[in-house]
Amino acid sequence: MIASIISLLVAAVALLGGQAAAYNRRFIENSSDTEQVIISGASSFNGLNLVPQMGWNNWNAFQCNVSESLLLDTAEAMVNFGLKDLGYNYIVLDDCWSIGRNESGYLIPNPLKFPNGMKYIADKLHSMGMKFGMYSSAGVFTCGRYPGSLGFEQQDADLWASWDVDYLKYDNCFNQGQSGTPQISFNRYNVMSQAINKTGRPMIYSLCNWGNDDPYDWAYTIANSGRMSGDIYDQFNRPDSRCPCTEAVGCAWPGFHCSVMNILNKMAAIQSRTMSGYFNDMDMLEVGNGGQSDSEYVVHFSMWAMHSSPLLIGTNVLTLSPANLAILSNPAIIALNQDPSASAAIRKWQYFIDPDETGQGEIALWTRRLANGDQVIALLNAANSTMKMNATMNEIFLDPRTAGAYHEPEELRKTWDVYDLWANRLSESEASAIINSTPMIGITNMNSTKTPRATRYNATTTSYADGLKNNDTALLGQKVGSIEPRGTWVAEIPRHSVGMYRLRARPTTRMRKRDELY
Ligand code: GAL
Repeated sequence: MIASIISLLVAAVALLGGQAAAYNRRFIENSSDTEQVIISGASSFNGLNLVPQMGWNNWNAFQCNVSESLLLDTAEAMVNFGLKDLGYNYIVLDDCWSIGRNESGYLIPNPLKFPNGMKYIADKLHSMGMKFGMYSSAGVFTCGRYPGSLGFEQQDADLWASWDVDYLKYDNCFNQGQSGTPQISFNRYNVMSQAINKTGRPMIYSLCNWGNDDPYDWAYTIANSGRMSGDIYDQFNRPDSRCPCTEAVGCAWPGFHCSVMNILNKMAAIQSRTMSGYFNDMDMLEVGNGGQSDSEYVVHFSMWAMHSSPLLIGTNVLTLSPANLAILSNPAIIALNQDPSASAAIRKWQYFIDPDETGQGEIALWTRRLANGDQVIALLNAANSTMKMNATMNEIFLDPRTAGAYHEPEELRKTWDVYDLWANRLSESEASAIINSTPMIGITNMNSTKTPRATRYNATTTSYADGLKNNDTALLGQKVGSIEPRGTWVAEIPRHSVGMYRLRARPTTRMRKRDELY
């Protein structure tokens, strides 16, 4: 009897201890040390990144041309342009920052590029309300042939923690052949995951192995995001032999030079593997880098948001054009990305209507259910001429995976108001006013008359989740019509464009008894 009481007590203490450990790992999402974002169904292994990370990474625009001033000037511009308050708060330094290891094995930052060291940068960024991301590779070298972290995991994680780093992007080059099966890759990436946890410092762990060995099947237990494709390049749909796969699953060589449409379509088969705490990373944004038209960048940005991909600006913010600022600043689109559902979209249909010289002339319908019951639809026209496109209620609401359900979805019997999510895009003159009047009080102050309320948002003061609860009009776009029960949404979509619509159900009048039996 006494023995069993003692064992019960031991079990209870162990349980409480375990819970405490779990709570310790539930790090804080927003800057304050006391608040905690809790999203039901969150599966984050370390409690971080319940909605996708947002920020900036230097690679796409600057490659190895990195420096302290680039990071700090960019951060300052992001604050001044209101991008920080829209949620872009991580400044991620990519490859080529280190010159080697010292006698004790610690990484040495390049003193010419980073004369004041890394802790200095972290402190400066933190004082601006930004966070600091660092880069390394799960190999003996990084992809640019700088020192990698394989075999030095704990020492490197400890060093980054001592610099107050908040984020690690962890690449895949020079991995000594330690890949080829999910288990081998898992083991290699898990060492760094454990090392980061051991430091006790909350750091987002962003895995970058280009979809090798199917990270979307296993990485959610050790990481906060995982790249699902070879490197992006600044083209809308141009095929390139260096990016040979059109599917994520079974892709033997992810390669690089993958176009926006190539990466987008790879999401179709793995969309169910996006979840709160682990996001399929479609790679850094190319918006602003000059290889695509305005409407193509709108497609790129919209679809990355729609799929809850991390949103890392990948251009030179210091020379950002008004049009590109307007794309990156659309809170109605960012709200999709930051939606607490933390899910990706389903491709309901795809037709190749004009296999032109690029062989990529497709149209498609993608839809996604949001946490508050709204539904979002993307009518994507990647073909070469304007198309009258339509989405029927059946297509919008009959999820192929549940189409065999006994009852038809009740959504089909509702009337849905339709909101165009690009209707309130900042105009050229509004965006240039923001860029030209730096530092401009109007950007972070939502009550200012300088910046139209409906087109900007301050996520530092109100999260997107709360903004949606309050029906903040900045997140809704503009009402452009409605769909009646069993109706169809029809829209004319110009070539290489997308119609992005949030559907919201009108409150239904009480059903009669007979209808309930229906
Ligand atoms: C690639 C990675 C890129 C960039 C580059 C740096 O492997 O996918 O995003 O980090 O290495 O060398």
